[in-house]
Amino acid sequence: MPRPPYRRSGNLLGLPAQLWDSPFLRTCRGEPVSRAPVWLMRQAGRYMQHYRGLRAAHSFLDLCKDPDLACEVTVYAREWLGVDAAIIFSDILVVPEALGLRLEFTAGEGPRLPDPLRTPADLARLREPAQAGADLGFVSAAIRRTVAALPPDIPLIGFAGAPFTLAAYAIEGGGSRQFAHAKAFMYAHPQSWHALQARLVDCLSVYLADQVAAGASALQLFDSWAGCLTREDFREFVQPHLSALVGRLPAGVPVILFATNAAHLLDLIAGCGADVVGLDPATEIADGWRRCGGPAQVAVQGNLDPALLLAPRPRLLAAADRLLAGWRPGHIVNLGHGVLKETDPEQARALVERIHAFTPPSA
Ligand code: CP3
Repeated sequence: MPRPPYRRSGNLLGLPAQLWDSPFLRTCRGEPVSRAPVWLMRQAGRYMQHYRGLRAAHSFLDLCKDPDLACEVTVYAREWLGVDAAIIFSDILVVPEALGLRLEFTAGEGPRLPDPLRTPADLARLREPAQAGADLGFVSAAIRRTVAALPPDIPLIGFAGAPFTLAAYAIEGGGSRQFAHAKAFMYAHPQSWHALQARLVDCLSVYLADQVAAGASALQLFDSWAGCLTREDFREFVQPHLSALVGRLPAGVPVILFATNAAHLLDLIAGCGADVVGLDPATEIADGWRRCGGPAQVAVQGNLDPALLLAPRPRLLAAADRLLAGWRPGHIVNLGHGVLKETDPEQARALVERIHAFTPPSA
């Protein structure tokens, strides 16, 4: 049975009224609000001095795995920026690590999985998926602490990488431009590809249900790399698994699906059961929303260019004003991708202030 859309599910998680009626969660349901909600992908990270201070003493993975530190990073960034939602500090790659793949973060290089999955036989190295999902208990511990530390009207977003993007990382062994290994694996070994996707779905559904049980009141799935696929390949290799995963997530929690360079896939992504679809800067909000079925169907999130935060203040604010001029209920204001590390945090805070100064037409 498909999971009911969030806007028709009712308050099945039994959230307190101030959380259920927060601008962020109301907007996930397409309801009118008194202020347009805003948060920023990668709002906690190296562009913030507080974060760099913690990183001087701890590795990135130590921050992810220590619930007190993950909580501190999450809560500090939320409060400093004054945004309408927090996102738990973690990374999408803790899941392949829990499945048994070695994970390394080396300074200046980005993440690497030094023993990638390159043949069907390599799948035998993976650990049992439900066990791996349950072993990520440090994330739910961090969520519990963070929910207790946040103001009672601020939702916490839990997240994971989507099965395609995680499989692509596991096969490539790191970042990629062409995804040659991942695509070659997919075409040459479709059965093993589908088996890998199914294992990821098993692991992710346990992991994400734990995040909701710990207090996450929304979930975002990052399918950052799905935009590299044609519609045909997305339909065959990704959609069945992504919709199975969304269908297995707890009812009553909004699910945000985010992909980049995916304008050509938006209707298919919305069709996987998303309550909110992330739009990247290459797509205009009105156009992207229409492709997803329009405001009666889904909410949207996005889509300012992260590089705008590097622009002189007047240009940044003018871009915010243009976005707001077309704003309507069901639009969560955000960047179209993560905050760049070169960003001046004051610019991010000024953007949030500008969004909050706007009075929605329906209010
Ligand atoms: O949004 C947030 O504030 C929550 C935290 C978060 C991080 N990674 C922290 C992080 C989230 C939601 C992610 C998701 C993530 N991680 C994605 C999907 C989103 C996207 O950007 O498309 C991907 C592809 C990853 C994998 C990953 N982790 C990469 C490519 C990198 C290196 C990039 C970089 O900025 O250096 C990371 C490391 C990472 N994840 C950092 C942070 C704060 C920087 C680590 C450091 O301190 O050096």
